[in-house]
Amino acid sequence: MPQPLTASRSVRISGRVTVPGDKSISHRALILGGLATGRTRITGLLEAEDVMATARVMAALGAIVTRQDGAFEVLGQGVGGLQAPEAPLDFGNSGTSIRLMLGVLAGHDMRAELTGDASLCRRPMGRVLGPLTTMGLRVEAQGEGGTLPLAVRGTGDILPVVYELPVPSAQVKSSILFAGLHAPGRTTVLEPLATRDHTERMLGFFGAELKVEDREDGARAITVCGDAELEGAALSVPGDPSSAAFLVAASLICPGSEIVVENVLMNPTRTGFFETLREMGAEIEVLDLRNEGGEPVGDLRVKAGRLRGVRVPPERAPAMIDEYPVLAVLAAFAEGETRMEGLSELKVKESDRLAATAAGLKACGVEAHVDGDDLIVRGTGEVRGGGLVETHMDHRIAMAFLTLGLGASEPVTVDDVSMVATSFPGFVPLMTKLGAEFA
Ligand code: S3P
Repeated sequence: MPQPLTASRSVRISGRVTVPGDKSISHRALILGGLATGRTRITGLLEAEDVMATARVMAALGAIVTRQDGAFEVLGQGVGGLQAPEAPLDFGNSGTSIRLMLGVLAGHDMRAELTGDASLCRRPMGRVLGPLTTMGLRVEAQGEGGTLPLAVRGTGDILPVVYELPVPSAQVKSSILFAGLHAPGRTTVLEPLATRDHTERMLGFFGAELKVEDREDGARAITVCGDAELEGAALSVPGDPSSAAFLVAASLICPGSEIVVENVLMNPTRTGFFETLREMGAEIEVLDLRNEGGEPVGDLRVKAGRLRGVRVPPERAPAMIDEYPVLAVLAAFAEGETRMEGLSELKVKESDRLAATAAGLKACGVEAHVDGDDLIVRGTGEVRGGGLVETHMDHRIAMAFLTLGLGASEPVTVDDVSMVATSFPGFVPLMTKLGAEFA
């Protein structure tokens, strides 16, 4: 049953808070924990549906995943040591889980059936199946155009490859590197635009042999040595900057606000949103920048203030790919035009986010349109609101438009907030505690 929710104009979003653990790092910690030998202890794991889907899949493949004293422990089976699943693997709404796990499955001599919810069943898997097939994965059954449900057969004789990413995708990169762990020799992924690098950082942390080269033309080459041996590790997952983005946005548009979000991941492959907000004139400070478990982490202090429209260049997209819906919402409150360029990847997220964002803005009285792969929003400093926004099973569309409602003149209703639990359980109570008005 859909669960609609309405957000109304709020003043003074204030407080000192933390957000749940980073989703990308949480998936990788569970997967690499399952491929390591010995125990991996993870504190701060994101306990959201997407990550729990990865945990369930790893358990169905023989890793032992337990929750003890607020931390997760994974007893790994070693690289290549997972067992054939007894039932189809259900990935729910999680594109990251399935794409990363296809790389892992490719290196195991076994058959697996994979499925997910209606949104995941529409998303393209060809981008990972193509290179993984070259490495030796066999696809025995697939939906039209390389979609779920899938039946695949991995191999104990997977081949190393050199693969240049045709789209900037950390999921595709990670999937190939995970398959490469099982191959003899070196597997290299070339990425013309740097995408989030948590896989590389964490592989190093678990003891894999890895080389990352930054080329003069800005491209990056990541090479992993196969027949890898990984050792269980202790990890602490920092707060998710993609979740913090909604709190930051609400504080910027609700008058009198000031918040501190503690312990937020500040990896430069993830901070494009904050960089853009500074260009828009936002007051954002990073306090106590530190290094935790191989990742930069800081506390974010944000105050309400006026914003101006900017051009967001296409090469910044990988560093803020999940933040465009909420950036577009902020662009509506800014003065002047914001042009967000090169957003073709947004069309294949949990929904077509380019279309869903433009439609939601229009429903709230904002002038917005899509021009090819660009999204253009004309802000006047004031947003009417009053719309009913369709979320299309997309957690980030739901949170972005609830945020819009907090700063708009008229209340905004989103048609379903149930999907928010896929990435940010506790979003509504946390925002309410900070002063947001929902009904
Ligand atoms: C993710 C990578 C991004 C992002 C997704 C999580 C990851 O997708 O949108 O939410 O953890 O690797 P792409 O790599 O497909 O751009």
